[in-house]
Amino acid sequence: MTERTYDSHLSSPRNFGATATMTNDTSSPAADVAVEQSIVMDVKDVSVYYSDFRAVRDVNMPVREHQITAMIGPSGCGKSTVLRSLNRMNDLIDGARVEGLVSYRGIDLYGPKVDPVEVRRRIGMVFQKPNPFPKSIRENITFGPRIAGIPKSEFDELVERSLRSAALWEEVKDRLDSSALGLSGGQQQRLCIARAIATQPDMLLMDEPCSALDPIATGRIEDLMHELKDNYTIVIVTHNMQQAARVSDRCAFFTTELDSQSDRRTGQLVEYDATDRIFSNPSDERTENYVTGRFG
Ligand SMILES: Nc1ncnc2c1ncn2[C@@H]1O[C@H](COP(=O)(O)OP(=O)(O)OP(=O)(O)O)[C@@H](O)[C@H]1O
Ligand SMILES: [Mg+2]
Repeated sequence: MTERTYDSHLSSPRNFGATATMTNDTSSPAADVAVEQSIVMDVKDVSVYYSDFRAVRDVNMPVREHQITAMIGPSGCGKSTVLRSLNRMNDLIDGARVEGLVSYRGIDLYGPKVDPVEVRRRIGMVFQKPNPFPKSIRENITFGPRIAGIPKSEFDELVERSLRSAALWEEVKDRLDSSALGLSGGQQQRLCIARAIATQPDMLLMDEPCSALDPIATGRIEDLMHELKDNYTIVIVTHNMQQAARVSDRCAFFTTELDSQSDRRTGQLVEYDATDRIFSNPSDERTENYVTGRFG
């Protein structure tokens, strides 16, 4: 894996400077500080609205560097909504609005000078359904770098590196100019991960990346996530409890509750902790009911 440099620019006019890296959670006891990874993204009192509807409220979820953070919970509790707020994907949805603070390496992601396109380059996303472009395997990888102005002379190396990182190179190296749509679902999803990696992001957001895959392809993606963790910080949404338990370091359990004012169900974060604690000794009964399958 090549070395990645971060110039700390999320917007062109303003240099946020090297001081932007956040250190440890100030609320942690001193003893914890030495062993904890630094917080790369902090989510403080975040609520997300779709027009008047508050879909999810008061989320506090520091995301630590080089860890896999999983978001679990029943359908409609706001997992995708919160995930999209981490790289300003909700900006693309009419009426969506984020309240509270999402800070990335100490920078307010929703600050007036922050360029959302640069945010999404730094914080890549992989979706539930593999969505390769109807182009060749090679062009899927070079699409982002081309827009970013990376010289063509670097493409061959970049294509190989990205595909190797996504554990796909050996399977496709002889057919780089064939259509990506000819790949299997699991291969397509690894191609989407390779495509996300090609723009040299810092974080990867994955929304149920294995839900369309069989157990073997799922296992490959999970292995891949473990490998990618050395170089990236990953946040994953999953409905698969075993997957959350297998891959994640920290786990956030969300649920919904009826909002008496709107008479609609609003999502909330119930508990956020080390994954083994969430699965073995959660502090909230609702978490325990969910992870043991007694929910509802
Ligand atoms: N584009 C949208 N416009 C309006 N409301 C939306 C939109 N997207 C999501 N919502 C609402 O926000 C709430 C949270 O939805 P979200 O998709 O984040 O849930 P989720 O936890 O990801 O569910 P699932 O597990 O089914 O994917 C739901 O009440 C949903 O109806
Ligand atoms: Mg979702």
